[in-house]
Amino acid sequence: MMVVAIDGPAGVGKSSLARWIAKSFGFLNLNSGAFYRAIAVKIHKTGLDIGNTPEVISTAESAIIELSGDSINLDGENIDRLLRTGLIDSWSSIVSSIVPVRRIVNQQLRDISKSTNLVAEGRDMATVVFPNADLKIYLEAALHVRVRRRFNQSTSNQSIEELELSLQERDRRDKNKIEGSLKIAEDAVVIDSSDLTFEKVCERVRGLVDAHLLCQNPQE
Ligand code: DC
Repeated sequence: MMVVAIDGPAGVGKSSLARWIAKSFGFLNLNSGAFYRAIAVKIHKTGLDIGNTPEVISTAESAIIELSGDSINLDGENIDRLLRTGLIDSWSSIVSSIVPVRRIVNQQLRDISKSTNLVAEGRDMATVVFPNADLKIYLEAALHVRVRRRFNQSTSNQSIEELELSLQERDRRDKNKIEGSLKIAEDAVVIDSSDLTFEKVCERVRGLVDAHLLCQNPQE
């Protein structure tokens, strides 16, 4: 099974790149952030206190999270439209900083990886969850570029200044976790997309994936 691991900060375009790889090569798209978001949604739905760590952990244990294409189900119900609100941005960040929750999510991600070629994206895919990934990509872009891209895509009424503050806060939390903090794996290919179009990034990644596939199947 081939595993492509993509890490990088919030708003850098990991999800778009992972979706493109999944579609182009027929891989499963494993969006690890969506798992933390789904747990945050469950806490919100059940009216629990996000500050109550034992309750957050037992919610993570009981949540049944399933992927279907680019959609995600929580306890049998599609929750796509609930995943990307300002509240869930912030609560998923809190949820993901709890070490036992990370262990639960990581186990689920590894279980899924046993049966299929996949592209996994998040913060610690190459460093913690899939240290033996066939291809590791660290995607980065300057903060002002990520803020501008988020602003252009945003459907919320957050101002550009608010978006910048929220991305800065998420960068700070992502880099300061006890476990699973955002780091560049030693053997990762670093792509700085600040001055690259999405098509250029895809072109570069296509070359990398093709080279790995060729090594696996040299006769083709
Ligand atoms: O990638 P995202 O914005 O959907 O992730 C949601 C939150 O989960 C974000 O605060 C970072 C965190 N996260 C993490 O800690 N580890 C991962 N592998 C993926 C996401």
